[in-house]
Parts: sequence; C-alpha cells; structure tokens
Amino acid sequence: MAWDVRGKTVVVTGATSGIGLEASAQLAGLGAAVTMVGRDPARTSAAAAEVTRRAGSAPVTTLLCDFASQAAIRRLASEIHERHDRLDVLVNNAGAVNKTRRVTSDGIEATFAVNHLGYFLLTNLVTDLLTRSAPARVVTVASVGHRAGTMDFDDLGYERGYSIMKAYQRSKLGNVLFAHELARRLADVGVTSNALHPGAVDTNIWSGAPLWARPIIALALRPFFISAERGGERITELVADPALEGVTGAYFEDGKRVEPAPLVRDQDLARRLWDVSEQLVGLGTHS
Ligand SMILES: NC(=O)c1ccc[n+]([C@@H]2O[C@H](COP(=O)([O-])OP(=O)(O)OC[C@H]3O[C@@H](n4cnc5c(N)ncnc54)[C@H](OP(=O)(O)O)[C@@H]3O)[C@@H](O)[C@H]2O)c1
Repeated sequence: MAWDVRGKTVVVTGATSGIGLEASAQLAGLGAAVTMVGRDPARTSAAAAEVTRRAGSAPVTTLLCDFASQAAIRRLASEIHERHDRLDVLVNNAGAVNKTRRVTSDGIEATFAVNHLGYFLLTNLVTDLLTRSAPARVVTVASVGHRAGTMDFDDLGYERGYSIMKAYQRSKLGNVLFAHELARRLADVGVTSNALHPGAVDTNIWSGAPLWARPIIALALRPFFISAERGGERITELVADPALEGVTGAYFEDGKRVEPAPLVRDQDLARRLWDVSEQLVGLGTHS
C-alpha cells in the first residue's frame, strides 16, 4: 500500500524525460498534484501532456528552470511559493553529464552546478514550505557512481584533470552528502531526506557519453539496463512507501536500503560541503 499521496503537492525536477517523467506519471496516477519542472518549454509541455494522458484526472502543472543558472533556480523557487502554500514532496532529479568541461554563467563547472548545487539551492529555498507541510519528504536522485567520487575543495570544478566520469561522480557524491546533511538539519521538523541510486536505467543521460564509449554502453551495459518505468518506480517508492514514514538520512540502491560510500559518514566533510555550497550559491551568512 502506498503512502496516501492523493492531493499532495509534489515537485519533480528533470521531469521531461527518463525516470523523472516516469515518476511524474506514476505519482500523478496515484493522485498527487505534480508540478513537472523542465528547462525547455516545448519538451516540458509535451511531457506534461503525456503525463496527463497517462494519469487521467490528476492536476499536472509545469514550471521552467535551467539548473545551470542560479538566477533561474531562484525564479523557480519564487514561482513555487507563488503557486503553492505547501510542498509535501520535492524530488531532486534533474541531472546531466558533460563530455567536455563547461563553466556556467555563475562561473561554476556545469556538472557540479546542475547536479549538486541545483539540488542544494532549490531545496534550501523551499525548505520553509516543506517544513510548513510536515510530514514532508525530500527525495534526492544520486547514483552508485558516488562511490567512486572524491571531494577536493581546492579544485571542486576539475580545472585540473577533468573527465566526464570524475565530474559526474563528484556531483553524485555531493548529492548523497547533501541528502544526509539535510536529514540531520531537518531531523526535528518532520521533513525526511533520503537519496537513491535508481539502477542502471535506459534513458537519455547515456547520449551524453563520448562517442568512443557508446558502443561499450550499447553492447556491454544496455542488456543489463532496467526500463525508465522501473527506474521511475524507485523514486515513487521513496515518495509513497508508507514504511518510510519518518525514515531519514537513508540511501537506497536498486530499491534496497544500503550503506553509502564510507565518505558519506564523514560529517565534517558533509558540513564543509554544505558551507562551501552556501558560499557558491550566496546563501546563509553570505546572502
Ligand atoms: N539513467 C541511469 O542509469 C542513472 C543512474 C543513476 C542515476 N541517475 C540519475 O537520474 C537522474 C535523471 O536522469 P535520467 O537517467 O532520467 O536521464 P535523462 O533522461 O537524461 O533525464 C534528465 C532530466 O534532467 C533534465 N536536465 C538536465 N540538465 C538540466 C538542466 N541544466 N536544467 C534543467 N533540467 C536539466 C533533463 O531535461 P531535458 O529533457 O531538457 O534534457 C531531463 O528532464 C539524474 O540525476 C541522473 O544522475 C541515472
């Protein structure tokens, strides 16, 4: 049986494709009022139309945000506040890989900016709504790749030695550290924070791989991929499983609760990443 999400306000980022689209359809099908966040107007409308068609009568709305821009994330948070006086669930899911090193208009390496700082800034800007709506849930889509991630505060954006995987793994380690630190910070207010690896899922994210890697993915990995629908279910479970009431600071891989990388248990590291992230997005003592 599912936690009753009927009528609950759920925001899903990265809702235009892959597991975010599937989770949006599943949650709308359970009766949640889903706001699908996309960056491209046409893709976002098309995804919302698909979810509406698949889910029936549940109200589906859309908002736009390119998570590579902190100004856009601030606009998104303002629009969420304008539209909603409560927020029961935030699903941080929008993510990408970058074959070559790119720097955003805020001067930050794009993978870290979108995948980690995007989650961090949006969540912080809507924590008041989540707290007001307690019991509420934050679900952070990380990756098993976090296990290979490292955190070097002297060169967070890989000015030296950039590679697509190293940048991705660091951003995903950031996700799990963030989800755990958020759980600690919100422990007393009824907002849970958990992270997950959805499995290796057949989605558009793999089209961001370099040309040389694509045959390897197609031949060696794709046979083991799960469908986007199944990957979406992994998100839906964390949003709607009644057994997870009050469970916080947990990490799930392929649907099972497991220990994350040992680095994630380093609370000093998690606190330091939080402080540095605050500085990079202009929050906290710096706002
Ligand atoms: N697929 C896997 O095997 C796998 C494994 C572990 C973790 N994950 C995680 O799952 C999450 C979803 O990925 P997916 O596999 O479903 O891939 P996907 O099909 O490529 O979906 C990614 C979503 O994120 C959005 N997005 C990317 N960059 C964005 C930006 N700058 N601003 C706003 N939205 C942006 C995409 O929007 P557009 O449609 O506009 O591109 C899309 O909606 C990611 O966080 C990824 O790290 C995936």
